[in-house]
Amino acid sequence: MNLIDFDCNFYGRRDVLDILKKRAMGLKEGYRQNVALLGDRYIGKTSLLYRLMSQMDDPDVLFVYLDLEGRDFNYFCIQFIKSLLYNYLKKKSLPLHEDLKLLCQESRSSIPRTVFLVDALEALRAQGKTFEAYHMLLSLPEIFSQETGKSLVLIFDEFSALENFQIPEVFAELGKRIMTQKNCLYIVASSLRAKAEGILAEKLSLLFGNFEVLVLDSFSFSEAQGLIDHNLNGVKIGLHLKNFIADFCFGHLLYMNILCQVLIYLSGVYAQQEIYAPLVTNAIENLIFNRWGIISRHFELGIHELTISKSASLTMSILGALAQGKHKIGELVEGLQVKSSQVVLRMSALQDANIVERNGNYYHIKDKLFSYWIKYVYKRRTQVIDVEQGLPRKQFKEELGRALNDFSVVARRDLSVRVSDLMHKFDNESFVLCGRRYKLNAFRDIKILKLRIGTGNFFDAISADSPEGGWLVVLKKDPVQERDLNGILDEIKKLEPKPLRCVILSLNGLDENARVRALQEKLWVWDENQLNCLMHLFDEPIIVR
Ligand SMILES: Nc1ncnc2c1ncn2[C@@H]1O[C@H](COP(=O)(O)OP(=O)(O)OP(=O)(O)O)[C@@H](O)[C@H]1O
Ligand SMILES: [Mg+2]
Repeated sequence: MNLIDFDCNFYGRRDVLDILKKRAMGLKEGYRQNVALLGDRYIGKTSLLYRLMSQMDDPDVLFVYLDLEGRDFNYFCIQFIKSLLYNYLKKKSLPLHEDLKLLCQESRSSIPRTVFLVDALEALRAQGKTFEAYHMLLSLPEIFSQETGKSLVLIFDEFSALENFQIPEVFAELGKRIMTQKNCLYIVASSLRAKAEGILAEKLSLLFGNFEVLVLDSFSFSEAQGLIDHNLNGVKIGLHLKNFIADFCFGHLLYMNILCQVLIYLSGVYAQQEIYAPLVTNAIENLIFNRWGIISRHFELGIHELTISKSASLTMSILGALAQGKHKIGELVEGLQVKSSQVVLRMSALQDANIVERNGNYYHIKDKLFSYWIKYVYKRRTQVIDVEQGLPRKQFKEELGRALNDFSVVARRDLSVRVSDLMHKFDNESFVLCGRRYKLNAFRDIKILKLRIGTGNFFDAISADSPEGGWLVVLKKDPVQERDLNGILDEIKKLEPKPLRCVILSLNGLDENARVRALQEKLWVWDENQLNCLMHLFDEPIIVR
């Protein structure tokens, strides 16, 4: 049996990794572009940074990695110095130590200026002169790179925690140093996207524009499929089950890793060469339903953090209602019988905690699996009366079986049927999809049809009527070419009455000329990303190709 070693099991993220490598190598050639790596919790920022460090083996580029979450200044200072000296000695193939004094002793003869500064810094720290010590620490990279001629890549993971060091103007001071230290590349990472962007824009304002912001997202559907294959390492699994797992975990790497781990384990226990549905349900039950299942514990800890405050019960009621498909404040107020102001207040705290996201007037639990767990495990657990009968477990298994079955039914449906089902759910709300706002009318008459282009092809299309006017949605799985688009535009011109809105929906996007033309003609252009964003907003399984 081949269990997954999470530390060595890095997969994908080629594009971001390539950019980071390029930035680190650029530094050597005198081009410096600092980077901010932002992304939700557990999305893979630290793994990516570790990967970068393990793959870069240039004798002239040194890495100093510091995770600042929950740390104080003393940790920052000692770890900074140790890491710098250790990595220097390692590059020089000199004896390595973990103790600060021994590290200084070992380095003193080859980098006396740097070690002299470290001594001075330690003296300041011993006198409790934190502010002065911070200043001196920030000049250490410059002195070191001047003395050694080496370039330094400084990585501050969860860098917003610097603000807890109780050092006045902690970011502004750092900002000033970053500006002048041209031989040092700064990579900062954070799970708190809004906060980090605020710091980059305001507190590190000197540097605004000087930080390239890279955002890590959960895996796309095809990347998720790749990760599952990679993890299962030759253990067979049908495409349908793989798709189900990718959708169930919503491309979340950590959950997919853990689930695959259990699947490999179970396939060994039951001596199965291929993974079938019962094994998947068994694994999910172990991980999500069982109280001590890893993912269940993970969610329980999250709930614990959220409910330390006084409004614990309202917080949980709101999460319960969101998981049950109530997405608007009005619906929540009505269902929970509380004042709107209370709901708004809690919702804003949930957004700050990055648990809930808002799009238009819709609120959603960001993590689809967490939402599933609240609905089918947590809520039921709190409502159970007959603990003897194992009823909740039975219900959970039944529900999971249904979910698997429904997924396969839905996945087989034609794209036009899926989109028309989705459009039935539109209710005059506006949403932002991939940076653009769209108003989605409430339709009363939705028809699937074939649109004939000239004398040739037929395209799948949907016509929909609303009091404000009609929509025409033209669908294509393959990329839309310019000639397809010209044909569609000709057909649209012939329509009477003119549709209020035309949407070109192509899972594979449009070629560049077709896209430009479509936008000139004021058509809306949606691809797989926008469509799956809508599927998520309206609680539908994502589109599987
Ligand atoms: N590229 C990857 N390939 C495979 N697994 C990954 C990858 N990135 C992340 N993971 C998995 O996700 C887990 C969480 O990743 P990681 O700790 O890097 O996230 P993070 O964004 O740093 O989280 P936090 O915000 O909590 O610090 C890892 O332990 C690993 O199991
Ligand atoms: Mg991390």
